[in-house]
Amino acid sequence: MVLPEAVSRFVRAGGPEHTAVQERMAAFAREHDFPNIGPESGAVLRLLARVTDADAVFEFGSGFGYSASWFLRGGADRVILTEFDADELDKGREFMADAGLADRCVFEGGDAMATVERYDGPFDVVLVDHQKERYADALRAVRGKVRPGGVVVADNTMRGPIDFDALLAYLEGDADAIGGENEQTRGIAAYLDAVRAADDFETALLPVGSGLAVSTKVA
Ligand SMILES: C[S@@+](CC[C@H](N)C(=O)[O-])C[C@H]1O[C@@H](n2cnc3c(N)ncnc32)[C@H](O)[C@@H]1O
Repeated sequence: MVLPEAVSRFVRAGGPEHTAVQERMAAFAREHDFPNIGPESGAVLRLLARVTDADAVFEFGSGFGYSASWFLRGGADRVILTEFDADELDKGREFMADAGLADRCVFEGGDAMATVERYDGPFDVVLVDHQKERYADALRAVRGKVRPGGVVVADNTMRGPIDFDALLAYLEGDADAIGGENEQTRGIAAYLDAVRAADDFETALLPVGSGLAVSTKVA
């Protein structure tokens, strides 16, 4: 089962256009078969930065800065980009300089799970978009660093290196549905379990792009 193509086309056609630099980023992603978050979810990131009046955004897994560029378009004062591929991060530096946004970016090489330990927060928005099997760990790492009213958004809850049908069956109560699945699918299931069980967060699942879990800190 997949999201109807017409729905994606509708959301994309009615959503914001790329800036010139984002268009180049998207072309670079297509050329290198790189899974960036896409414009449909990008519009949601822009919205989240705007409605939280974001001072600080932390990203787990930034690639070459496409998702960060949407937070910056939403007025975020500062985005912390993490990426363990040094070439991707360099490309991100280049794109952000071209867009005139580099002074609002902090580029952090290495493992995002180690990087986050060096930041106290508070974060207004956190994007979880790195290794799917480490999503729940990422939530644990930022849980106390997101300010009340802040947001944690996780990508690939419905599409990506995961089995949608198995996840659906799991959420509908078949606890065994993901047992034989890949670790990415089990990682998304573990993340959804963790964030839905967290009494300091309220979560909505949005069937946008590859599927977003958007969770607001309420306590
Ligand atoms: C799905 S892509 C991110 C796309 C990006 N958020 C965007 O939309 O433009 C995932 C990226 O996370 C990086 N990554 C995965 N695990 C990581 C980790 N533990 N620390 C840092 N980077 C990581 C990968 O190298 C890859 O570039």
